[in-house]
Amino acid sequence: MKKKILIVANWKMNPPTSSEAEKLFAGVKKLDAVICPPFCYLDAKIWSSGAKFTLGAQNCHWEEKGAYTGEISPKMLKSMGVKYVIIGHSERRAHFKETDEMINKKLKAALKFGLIPILCIGEKKDKDAEIVVDKQLKEDLNGIIEKDVKKIVIAYEPVWAIGTGNFCDSQKAKKALRWIQEKTSNKVLYGGSVNSKISTDYTKVGFDGLLVGGASLNAEEFIKIVKNAQH
Ligand code: 13P
Repeated sequence: MKKKILIVANWKMNPPTSSEAEKLFAGVKKLDAVICPPFCYLDAKIWSSGAKFTLGAQNCHWEEKGAYTGEISPKMLKSMGVKYVIIGHSERRAHFKETDEMINKKLKAALKFGLIPILCIGEKKDKDAEIVVDKQLKEDLNGIIEKDVKKIVIAYEPVWAIGTGNFCDSQKAKKALRWIQEKTSNKVLYGGSVNSKISTDYTKVGFDGLLVGGASLNAEEFIKIVKNAQH
């Protein structure tokens, strides 16, 4: 049986208005994919009618509720119909100083509230890949019981390949996939400058799917990526 490929769109802090978000939702609503819009567009009114995609979020806090101004809890996400949550994206690690310790707490909280975490790992310079991936996996998954670890989707996103157009060659990415597979039996996605021309290169070398940034903001391009993965 052909394995099911998981395609996830990370819209990051885009698009800038709710009317543009509605248009983008309308363009992708028939897709079998996970869409992770900004929190403010998670409201069912703008996407729900006839949508086939699954909803994801881009981050969450580790507490259920409380005095954490500006934060969103995993319980809140669950109550909004969200199924997946991206945790530990390199942009959060870099701009918001998220540490592996914080990421570990977020993973535990997301799992506790029944969300599927998409844990992002990846190196800044390609020569450090194995060491960084190893360290992040060890620290991020620390203390999570095996049964729960299995539920986590891992996204290998080399930082230098994100938003640069300088994607990681699929053979090089395959090496990182092997290192990850030596340590876990989880689903592994590739992310970093994916477009419809190269998207199947990664699934051909064994990745279970893709985490798509920039190309997911163009409905036509994203549809191509999802369709390519399904054929
Ligand atoms: P780009 O596809 O824009 O490189 O972004 C990748 C990414 O960060 C997805 O989480």
